[in-house]
Order: sequence, then structure tokens, then C-alpha cells
Amino acid sequence: MNRKKAAIDVKTEIPGPNSQNWVEAYMKHAAPSTYAYPFVWDVTSWAQGPFCTDADGNVFIDFYGHVGAAPLGYNNPKILSDCGVPFDPVKTAEHDTFLAVGKDPFGSRNVRFKKPRASDFRTATDLQNLLVKLTSGFQMDMVFLVNSGAEAVSNAIKISIHRKFREVKARIGDELFGEMCRQLGIASSGLFTDLYADYPLFGLAAAGAFHGRTMDVLSLTNSKKAQKEGFPTLGWVKHVDVVDSVFDPAELMCEADLKTLILNKRLGRVVHEQGRVPGELLAYIIIEPIQGEGGYKIPRTENVKVLADVAQRHNSLLISDEVQTGIGRTGHWWGIEHHGVVPDVIAVAKGLRVGAVISRGNNFPGESGVISSTWCGGEISIAVGYKTLQIIEEEGLVQNAAQSGDYLMDELRGLRREYSFIEEVRGRGLMVGIELSDADKRDRLVEICFEKGLLVLGCGKKTIRMLPPLDVRPREMDMAVAVFERALSEL
Ligand SMILES: Cc1ncc(COP(=O)(O)O)c(C=O)c1O
Repeated sequence: MNRKKAAIDVKTEIPGPNSQNWVEAYMKHAAPSTYAYPFVWDVTSWAQGPFCTDADGNVFIDFYGHVGAAPLGYNNPKILSDCGVPFDPVKTAEHDTFLAVGKDPFGSRNVRFKKPRASDFRTATDLQNLLVKLTSGFQMDMVFLVNSGAEAVSNAIKISIHRKFREVKARIGDELFGEMCRQLGIASSGLFTDLYADYPLFGLAAAGAFHGRTMDVLSLTNSKKAQKEGFPTLGWVKHVDVVDSVFDPAELMCEADLKTLILNKRLGRVVHEQGRVPGELLAYIIIEPIQGEGGYKIPRTENVKVLADVAQRHNSLLISDEVQTGIGRTGHWWGIEHHGVVPDVIAVAKGLRVGAVISRGNNFPGESGVISSTWCGGEISIAVGYKTLQIIEEEGLVQNAAQSGDYLMDELRGLRREYSFIEEVRGRGLMVGIELSDADKRDRLVEICFEKGLLVLGCGKKTIRMLPPLDVRPREMDMAVAVFERALSEL
């Protein structure tokens, strides 16, 4: 089979018997997570572009793209040959769907892959150089490679807090710093007499944001109750609406001089009674250029510009969380470009195959040991990440994402005439959200699409997301839209 002629081919009930076996075998020792549906990609079967074969031999068209982790779809020939990997994506969204090696989870797994030999295997040095080139418009020149999106965001806020902590301490001195903590009700740690249990360095994040699920970045995440309920969070994070209303910094920020506030013993009142953030204590502002998990909602550009201005005024870092929007997905290399704003830090992962924090060198801690990671993403992922960027650049896939996204959204908007329960089709480039009238319809539609051989995924309360490969072709979009329409009509 080849991509030019490939078609959806569903020949068993869905999920088929082999897929059911794989899911059962996997789930025996797997913690409950975000599994969307029992799609089982058989990595030993034919797959290319958006097409992939499941453990029962059914051919699907994948428009959920491992939530952006498969920016080139399946088995891009250059990735296989140049990086020497047996299949790609080598890292899938494995808590959404499943992966099989051959048909039988219980039998011998003596599967022979063709042995591709790497012909252009790159290292972290190459990846760093390329990322610096791709962020040169933001004057960024330093990269810290990590393992996931959450880890990238975690380190982005960590370097921002580190920088602000040093700056405030140097400016107001130890004594006033201690007095500041006392006024804010922050206790000494008890372990070290010169340390506190907490530090009042603020961050702003967006209402409805998603920045990951680990215990630190959970403080920034604000999209669903189940993700947050019952967990302690970092203090000093404020969430502001950037989608539905116009953000007025005067309502949240206190511009008064920090030293004066402390000396006049007004700091506690400003923070605890008025709920306002002293500008000099603002360490970072973090924003998703388009909200992902939260429902493919696009912040108002005027709000993003105001937040950038607030960050600049207070010498805080503006972090663009590009984990889902980065490396061409939205029709620009970086999603933040849609807002015409220059970020100080980029956190990226998913499509890059490794996590990365990118910024200017002087924003990173100078001392050894403040930030580190054993794997830094891992060598194979780094090589695949490098090649992915190179292919996107050489093949003009950022432009393709922009044009194809417009085409796909036009086609989907056309369906609204007939199916009034489609409330809105929105997005940028190939990050496309289809908002329905209610969550039950959304969930059922995802299921029907799956049964018909189209993979899509829910997000937000009642939205479906589509993230086809960046090199998607018109024929493939037509095919996906046709199945989507059949699913709508069945619904
Ligand atoms: C915008 C954004 N930030 C952070 C994350 C967390 O990434 P990871 O799942 O790799 O930890 C995600 C994951 O969906 C995301 O969409």
C-alpha cells in the first residue's frame, strides 16, 4: 500500500478481537489514565502519513495525531532512514491509545523489523543549534532539553522564579526580604534559620489553561476539576480570563514601590485583603497561545499584548507554552506569533519529541545544579526531533499547516449548515477545534468516528480536536471530512 492510494478500511467490528486482547493485556498492570478509546496501533503493519493499521488489520485515518506528538504522521521515510528507527512516532500518546507489536499480546513477539541504518543521526548539539536558529526572531540563544511537556513548563517557571528571587533579594536586601515574608504570613522553614517555608513570587496564568499534571505545574493548570481536585498547589499563582473578557491589569496589579509597601506595613493588606499582586514580585506570566486541553480556545490578542506589557514593565518573564502549538502546528513556527508578541521563554515538547526550554542565556541560572535532568529527552528522541524540524523546514510544512488548516476549517464550517449542533469551528493552522452543543454528543461523535475509521479526540467541555500531520494532503482531509459527516449524520 502507499499513501497516495491508501483508504480507510474497516473490516472487523471496532475494536476487533486482537485489539481487545492487547488492551486487556496492557491494562492488567497499567494505572488508570486518560485512555480515549481502544485504538491499538500495530507498529509492525503498514502505516504512512495519517494512515495506520490496527492490531486487527483495519486501516484508520488518524486526525488526532497523538495530540500533536506525531507531527509528520506515521513512518515518515526520512525519519526512518536518517534516524534508523524501526517505526515512527517512536513516542506515541500512549495514555490515549495503545501500541501493539504484531497481532498477539500473549504469544511470541519474535517480530523482525527491517533494520534501518541511521544515515543522518543528530545529537543534542544539532538540536540546540537548530532551535536557537528557529527562535532567533525572539533573540533566544540557550536551550535546556528535558523529557516531557510538564517538565519543560516546570523548568520554565523554575528559571523565572530563580531569576526574580535573586533580583528582589539583591534589590531590597535580606532584612527587608525577611520583613516582607513576615508581613505576608510566611513562616521560617525551621530547617534552616535563613530560609522561609515559602516565597511570595507571583505568577499569572490563564483561566482554563492546561500546562501538565505533575504536582508543580498543576498549580498553573486550570482546565478541569478532576485534574486538580484534592491536590495542594504552589501558592502565589493567579489565573486571569484571557478568552472571554478584556483583561484590565489595574484590577489585579499593584504598581506601588515594594520597599515603600513593606516599610509602611501595607504589603499584607495589598496581597491578602485586596487580592492584588505587587508588580515587583511578579516572576512570570505563562500563556498557551491557543488553549489545547482546555478546548482549543484562542486568547484575545489584546489580552496577550497587555500581559506581555505587564511582564516587560515588571521585568518578569513571559513564557509561551508551545507544547501543543509549537513547531509549525498552527501555521507559524510558534503559536505566539499569531499574537504579534515576543516571549522571553518557550516551553515546547510533543511534536519536538523531547521537551525543551528555550530562552536567552541570561535568564537561566548560572550556578551548576539548579536545573538538570538525567535523560534530557534521550538520544533517539533528540535525533528524531532534529530530523522532524529539518523536514518541516525543508518541505515548507509550516505553510502547508496554514493553508491546509484554512481548507479543513472551511470544509468543517460547511457542515454547520446541516448540523446545527456544531456551534463553532475554530483554530489556527492544523490545530482545529469543533465545538458541539453538548458533551454527550461530543463523546458519542468521537466514538462513531472511531467505529468508522477516523481518529479524533475530545478537549474542553464539548469540543472535538483535529491535529492531522503537518504534511496532510487535500485528498486526506476530504476523506476525513467525509467520514466526519457520515458520523454527524448517524448522530
Ligand atoms: C499546552 C500543554 N502544556 C503542557 C502539557 C504537558 O505535556 P506532557 O503531557 O508532555 O507532560 C500539555 C499536554 O497535553 C499541553 O498541551
